[in-house]
Amino acid sequence: MNKCVLILAGGKGKRMKSDLPKVLHKVCGKEMINHVIDVMRKADFQDVNVIIGKGADQVKAATKDRNITYSFQGEQLGTGHAVMCAKDFLKDKDGIVAIFAGDAPLISDETVKKFIKFHEQGKYKATLLTSILEHPDGYGRIIRNSEDCVEKIVEHKDCSSEELTIKEVNAAMYCFDIKTLLRGLDKIKNDNAQKEYYLTDMIEIIRASGEKVGAMPINFEETLGVNSRVQLSEVESIMRKRINNRHMENGVTIIDTNCTYIGEDVQIERDTIIYPGNVIEGLSVIKKGCILYPNSRIVDSIIDDNVTIQSSVILESKIGKNTTVGPFAYIRPESNIGTEVRIGDFVEIKKSKIGDHTKVSHLTYIGDAEVGSDCNFGCGTVVVNYDGKEKHKTIIGNNSFIGCNTNLVSPVEVEDNTYIAAGSTITEKVPKGSLAIARAKQVNKKDWVSKKNLKK
Ligand code: UD1
Ligand code: CA
Repeated sequence: MNKCVLILAGGKGKRMKSDLPKVLHKVCGKEMINHVIDVMRKADFQDVNVIIGKGADQVKAATKDRNITYSFQGEQLGTGHAVMCAKDFLKDKDGIVAIFAGDAPLISDETVKKFIKFHEQGKYKATLLTSILEHPDGYGRIIRNSEDCVEKIVEHKDCSSEELTIKEVNAAMYCFDIKTLLRGLDKIKNDNAQKEYYLTDMIEIIRASGEKVGAMPINFEETLGVNSRVQLSEVESIMRKRINNRHMENGVTIIDTNCTYIGEDVQIERDTIIYPGNVIEGLSVIKKGCILYPNSRIVDSIIDDNVTIQSSVILESKIGKNTTVGPFAYIRPESNIGTEVRIGDFVEIKKSKIGDHTKVSHLTYIGDAEVGSDCNFGCGTVVVNYDGKEKHKTIIGNNSFIGCNTNLVSPVEVEDNTYIAAGSTITEKVPKGSLAIARAKQVNKKDWVSKKNLKK
């Protein structure tokens, strides 16, 4: 059967007290709306329409790579009104439309698939996901009739004191027959406590026309919606636990799962060990047998087998096999570090290539450079890549020994098999096989101290 999905993301998110649209708040490093879109894709939905309103441009910008379409809700008059704003998207379609909320990112693709099957097999015109909550405050309550069929949903603010005791709640995740939904939408009114057009009223409308409504209860965790910062952190900790469990099941050791923050899309291979305080984000890949000692942040980077990293920041870069990084190294975007390299303490690398077996052990800055293999950087080397206006490139060949406290004023080239004397400021090419000394010659003034009568 044809199917498409609507994701509601137009609401104000008042309770977040934020300048950012609610659905753009991140959970485990990814915007809630993008979590929901990605889950729908995994559940085989090709046709995804997001209803935007508050902060529409921001939501569009954050979702632009996901190949979706948008409907626009100019004024936020409720979830039913939001769906009315997607009429153009739905009008020539047949089959089923799933409707999910952009602020409930814990739903899994397996559950979505089961849900669609449940809807189809039951031949329902509408089906909803429900859950049992110990503290159902704020949620719409599910009202069942004597045959246990769903009759209607009553929003928390419209509940009688008796209805308030019901613990089965609406997850705001639905599946509708498109034609039935379109026929019913215009019948939704806003005569309720919030003066809003509630999508939940569709259930009663469909029941009134004698059609069947299905309800599938699921684990409450998957239905949790985020309305406040407190709920945002609750959802974050559930997702964090899920992600960490998945990696542990795949053979990754996580020393303290409460203090390890791994993004949803990160890949980690077996026998990697992760100590507390690591934050791994974006599309990072950590390959086999790595040791991540405490307190690093790794973003959109590829870390090859058996790399050791300690208290460092690595952004949009590649680190080759058996390399060690840190403590306290900063590897900035577009760096490509080779295999068996040593990047030591207080070393910053920016947009540079470092060849295999090269050692940059301490207190060094390398920017816009191409460094060969088997080089050794003495302590305190600086690549002077910026002249105040432009960045320039430095090229260093294989087997170069750069003495301590060298400045390499770019653009400059150091050829293979060279030595640079400590304290040199290199401004010209160092030819193959030579030693460059570029510092003032030492002058010793004999007996200078006694002549000046300085000795006490
Ligand atoms: C909704 C349900 C409630 C359910 C709860 C589950 C209704 C009337 N109520 O309540 O039964 O238990 O979710 O979390 O549907 N949105 C729009 N436009 C609007 C209003 C909302 O796009 O005019 C979007 C929001 O951005 C959000 C979603 O719809 O992503 C849900 O809206 P929200 O205001 O959070 O609904 P709840 O009051 O939580
Ligand atoms: Ca909500």
